[in-house]
Amino acid sequence: MVEANGGQLQQLLINLVPNGRYTILAAGRSGCIRIRTRMQVDGVALEVEDDGAGIFESIGERVFEPFFTTKGKGAGTGLGLSVCRAVAQEHGGRLRLGGVGQGTQIILGLPC
Ligand SMILES: Nc1ncnc2c1ncn2[C@@H]1O[C@H](COP(=O)(O)OP(=O)(O)OP(=O)(O)O)[C@@H](O)[C@H]1O
Ligand SMILES: [Mg+2]
Repeated sequence: MVEANGGQLQQLLINLVPNGRYTILAAGRSGCIRIRTRMQVDGVALEVEDDGAGIFESIGERVFEPFFTTKGKGAGTGLGLSVCRAVAQEHGGRLRLGGVGQGTQIILGLPC
Protein backbone atom coordinates (compact mmCIF):
# COMPACT_ATOMS: atom_id res chain seq x y z
CA MET A 1 0.00 0.00 0.00
CA VAL A 2 1.23 3.51 -0.76
CA GLU A 3 -0.22 6.74 0.49
CA ALA A 4 -0.49 8.96 -2.56
CA ASN A 5 -2.45 11.72 -4.21
CA GLY A 6 -4.27 9.98 -7.07
CA GLY A 7 -4.67 13.17 -9.07
CA GLN A 8 -0.96 13.89 -8.92
CA LEU A 9 -0.03 10.35 -9.96
CA GLN A 10 -2.45 10.69 -12.85
CA GLN A 11 -0.71 13.96 -13.76
CA LEU A 12 2.60 12.13 -13.79
CA LEU A 13 1.31 9.49 -16.23
CA ILE A 14 -0.31 12.18 -18.36
CA ASN A 15 3.20 13.58 -18.83
CA LEU A 16 5.19 10.36 -19.18
CA VAL A 17 2.97 8.49 -21.65
CA PRO A 18 2.83 11.31 -24.26
CA ASN A 19 6.63 11.64 -24.02
CA GLY A 20 6.86 7.99 -25.04
CA ARG A 21 4.27 8.44 -27.75
CA TYR A 22 6.14 11.46 -29.15
CA THR A 23 9.46 9.67 -29.50
CA ILE A 24 7.86 6.63 -31.13
CA LEU A 25 5.91 8.77 -33.62
CA ALA A 26 9.07 10.76 -34.37
CA ALA A 27 10.81 7.50 -35.27
CA GLY A 28 8.09 6.94 -37.87
CA ARG A 29 7.29 3.37 -36.87
CA SER A 30 5.07 1.50 -34.49
CA GLY A 31 6.28 1.02 -30.95
CA CYS A 32 5.37 0.02 -27.46
CA ILE A 33 4.85 1.83 -24.15
CA ARG A 34 4.85 -0.38 -21.06
CA ILE A 35 3.64 0.64 -17.62
CA ARG A 36 4.64 -1.71 -14.82
CA THR A 37 4.48 -1.70 -11.06
CA ARG A 38 6.66 -3.81 -8.80
CA MET A 39 7.73 -4.21 -5.21
CA GLN A 40 11.13 -2.95 -4.11
CA VAL A 41 12.99 -3.47 -0.85
CA ASP A 42 12.01 -0.04 0.43
CA GLY A 43 8.74 0.62 -1.39
CA VAL A 44 7.17 0.26 -4.80
CA ALA A 45 8.20 1.26 -8.29
CA LEU A 46 6.10 2.49 -11.17
CA GLU A 47 7.94 2.26 -14.48
CA VAL A 48 7.02 3.81 -17.79
CA GLU A 49 9.12 2.44 -20.62
CA ASP A 50 9.08 3.05 -24.34
CA ASP A 51 11.08 1.68 -27.24
CA GLY A 52 11.53 5.03 -28.96
CA ALA A 53 14.79 6.82 -29.78
CA GLY A 54 15.93 7.08 -26.16
CA ILE A 55 17.67 9.94 -24.37
CA PHE A 56 21.25 10.77 -25.36
CA GLU A 57 23.73 9.99 -22.59
CA SER A 58 25.10 13.52 -22.97
CA ILE A 59 21.66 14.91 -22.05
CA GLY A 60 20.92 12.52 -19.18
CA GLU A 61 19.58 14.15 -16.02
CA ARG A 62 19.05 17.48 -17.77
CA VAL A 63 15.68 16.20 -18.97
CA PHE A 64 14.40 16.86 -15.42
CA GLU A 65 15.34 20.55 -15.52
CA PRO A 66 12.41 22.97 -15.90
CA PHE A 67 12.09 24.26 -19.48
CA PHE A 68 14.57 21.76 -20.88
CA THR A 69 13.14 20.51 -24.17
CA THR A 70 14.46 19.16 -27.44
CA LYS A 71 11.10 19.65 -29.13
CA GLY A 72 10.63 22.46 -31.61
CA LYS A 73 9.12 25.83 -30.81
CA GLY A 74 5.51 25.43 -29.72
CA ALA A 75 5.82 21.64 -29.45
CA GLY A 76 6.96 21.31 -25.85
CA THR A 77 7.30 23.51 -22.77
CA GLY A 78 9.96 21.34 -21.16
CA LEU A 79 7.99 21.30 -17.93
CA GLY A 80 6.62 17.75 -18.00
CA LEU A 81 9.45 15.87 -16.33
CA SER A 82 10.22 18.62 -13.83
CA VAL A 83 6.57 18.49 -12.72
CA CYS A 84 6.83 14.69 -12.47
CA ARG A 85 9.94 14.95 -10.34
CA ALA A 86 8.21 17.46 -8.04
CA VAL A 87 5.29 15.03 -7.66
CA ALA A 88 7.73 12.26 -6.72
CA GLN A 89 9.45 14.44 -4.15
CA GLU A 90 6.15 15.55 -2.61
CA HIS A 91 5.43 11.87 -2.01
CA GLY A 92 8.78 11.25 -0.37
CA GLY A 93 9.84 9.30 -3.45
CA ARG A 94 12.13 9.87 -6.39
CA LEU A 95 11.99 9.90 -10.15
CA ARG A 96 14.93 8.66 -12.15
CA LEU A 97 16.03 7.42 -15.54
CA GLY A 98 16.31 3.67 -15.88
CA GLY A 99 19.23 1.78 -17.35
CA VAL A 100 20.58 2.40 -20.79
CA GLY A 101 19.31 0.30 -23.65
CA GLN A 102 16.94 0.92 -26.47
CA GLY A 103 14.30 3.49 -25.63
CA THR A 104 13.62 5.24 -22.36
CA GLN A 105 12.65 4.04 -18.94
CA ILE A 106 11.43 6.45 -16.28
CA ILE A 107 11.04 5.02 -12.80
CA LEU A 108 9.02 6.45 -9.94
CA GLY A 109 10.01 5.02 -6.58
CA LEU A 110 7.50 5.49 -3.75
CA PRO A 111 7.81 4.53 -0.10
CA CYS A 112 5.19 2.13 1.27
N1 LIG B 1 10.38 9.01 -23.48
C1 LIG B 1 11.30 9.85 -23.94
N2 LIG B 1 12.12 9.49 -24.97
C2 LIG B 1 13.05 10.33 -25.44
N3 LIG B 1 13.28 11.58 -24.95
C3 LIG B 1 12.50 11.98 -23.92
C4 LIG B 1 11.48 11.15 -23.37
N4 LIG B 1 10.89 11.83 -22.35
C5 LIG B 1 11.51 13.01 -22.29
N5 LIG B 1 12.47 13.12 -23.23
C6 LIG B 1 13.37 14.26 -23.45
O1 LIG B 1 13.30 15.12 -22.32
C7 LIG B 1 12.88 16.42 -22.71
C8 LIG B 1 12.06 17.02 -21.58
O2 LIG B 1 10.85 16.30 -21.41
P1 LIG B 1 9.61 17.04 -20.74
O3 LIG B 1 8.46 16.11 -20.68
O4 LIG B 1 10.06 17.68 -19.47
O5 LIG B 1 9.32 18.24 -21.73
P2 LIG B 1 8.75 18.16 -23.23
O6 LIG B 1 8.13 16.83 -23.46
O7 LIG B 1 9.83 18.60 -24.14
O8 LIG B 1 7.63 19.29 -23.19
P3 LIG B 1 6.25 19.22 -22.36
O9 LIG B 1 6.37 20.30 -21.34
O10 LIG B 1 5.22 19.48 -23.37
O11 LIG B 1 6.14 17.87 -21.71
C9 LIG B 1 12.13 16.19 -24.02
O12 LIG B 1 12.11 17.35 -24.81
C10 LIG B 1 12.96 15.09 -24.64
O13 LIG B 1 14.15 15.60 -25.21
MG1 LIG C 1 6.78 15.98 -22.03
